[in-house]
Formats: sequence, structure tokens, C-alpha cells
Amino acid sequence: MQKLALLIVTVLFVSTGIALAVPAEKTLEFSKSPMGVVTFDGALHREAGQKCKNCHNEEVFPRMKQGTVEVTMDDIYAGKLCGVCHNGGRAFDAQSNCTRCHIKQ
Ligand code: HEC
Ligand code: HEC
Ligand code: HEC
Repeated sequence: MQKLALLIVTVLFVSTGIALAVPAEKTLEFSKSPMGVVTFDGALHREAGQKCKNCHNEEVFPRMKQGTVEVTMDDIYAGKLCGVCHNGGRAFDAQSNCTRCHIKQ
């Protein structure tokens, strides 16, 4: 009986682990800019060493839900939102790399 309980707990643990990992692999599309669509790739950011709470905290993107924060270039240039990292520090600078984010279709 104990073994069965342990097995169930293990299975539950592993499957929630997977369920939590999936959203991080998500790609989100920001398609409102005339400069072209921006594709945010969760897996790429994880591989670049970024933890959930580097982005999902009160200052940056508080909610794990797309569309709750409006992203503007003014904020990015001011070092907020994507610009917390895309300022030539942790990641490439936004000012001089428009087309690394914006892809014209
Ligand atoms: C480099 C920044 C960054 C990292 C790291 C990051 N996220 Fe996100 N995530 C975002 C942004 C930006 C959004 C969209 C937020 C918004 O529009 O308000 C988002 C949205 C989400 C969503 C909602 C997706 C949807 O379809 O609505 C989930 C779930 C999520 N993140 C989970 C995670 C988890 C779990 C981790 C860690 C494993 C993680 N994120 C790491 C930036 C990040
Ligand atoms: C917590 C830090 C952090 C935040 C916030 C962040 N990024 Fe990144 N991003 C990175 C790192 C690190 C890389 C790897 C590339 C590098 O080292 O310059 C990267 C890479 C990228 C790339 C790949 C570009 C290429 O040519 O390889 C895109 C596109 C991108 N980010 C878009 C975004 C967008 C859009 C947002 C906001 C919604 C965002 N990022 C927020 C850290 C961040
Ligand atoms: C780190 C990624 C990233 C880089 C680099 C970047 N942008 Fe953006 N930009 C975004 C995101 C995300 C949005 C939000 C689009 C949406 O909501 O659909 C946006 C929105 C915009 C908008 C519409 C909203 C506004 O604030 O005016 C314009 C115009 C724009 N970008 C121009 C540029 C130009 C010009 C450059 C280079 C000097 C640039 N972007 C570099 C990610 C980036």
C-alpha cells in the first residue's frame, strides 16, 4: 500500500512538473506594431538562463497571462518590461536591434 501511495505521489509530482514547464515553452505573439510582429519565445529565454521570477514579479510582468501588460517602446527604452534586460546589459540593446524582435511578414 505504501509503495502504491508513493507511486501516486511521484506520478502527480512529475505531471505537475511537466504542466508547469509547458507554459515556459510557449511562444507569444505581439502583432500590434507597424514595425512587424514580435515573437516572444519562452524556451529560448529559459535556455538563456532566465527564471520565471526574473520576468514574473511585481515590476516586470506580474501576471502569467498574455495581454495584461501593454508593451510600448517608451517603456522598453526606459528600461522597463522587455527593456529590463534588452538594454545592452543582460540581453541585446533594443535601440539598435529593432529587427531582432520585429519581423516583417
Ligand atoms: C524573459 C521573460 C519571461 C520569463 C523568463 C518567463 N516569462 Fe512567462 N511570460 C512573459 C511575458 C512577457 C508574458 C505575457 C504577459 C502579459 O502579456 O501580460 C508571459 C506569459 C506567461 C503565461 C501566459 C501565457 C498565455 O498564453 O497567456 C504563462 C502561463 C507563463 N508566462 C508562465 C511562465 C513560467 C512558468 C515561467 C518560468 C518557467 C515563465 N513564464 C518565464 C515573460 C516571461
Ligand atoms: C529577464 C531578462 C529578459 C527579459 C525581461 C526579456 N528578455 Fe528577451 N532575451 C533575454 C536574453 C538573455 C536573450 C538571449 C539573447 C542575448 O543574450 O542578447 C533574449 C533573447 C530574445 C530574443 C531573441 C533574439 C535573437 O536574435 O536571438 C527575442 C526576440 C527577445 N528576447 C524578445 C523579448 C521580448 C519581446 C521581451 C518582452 C516581452 C523580452 N525579450 C524580455 C532576456 C530577456
Ligand atoms: C526586445 C524586443 C524589441 C525590440 C528590440 C524592439 N521592439 Fe518595438 N515592440 C516590442 C514589443 C513586444 C512591442 C509591443 C507590440 C504589441 O503589443 O503588439 C513593440 C511595439 C513597438 C511599436 C508600437 C508601440 C509603440 O510603443 O510605439 C513600435 C512603433 C515599435 N515597437 C518600434 C520599434 C523600433 C523602431 C525598434 C528599434 C529602435 C524596436 N521597436 C525594437 C519589442 C521590441
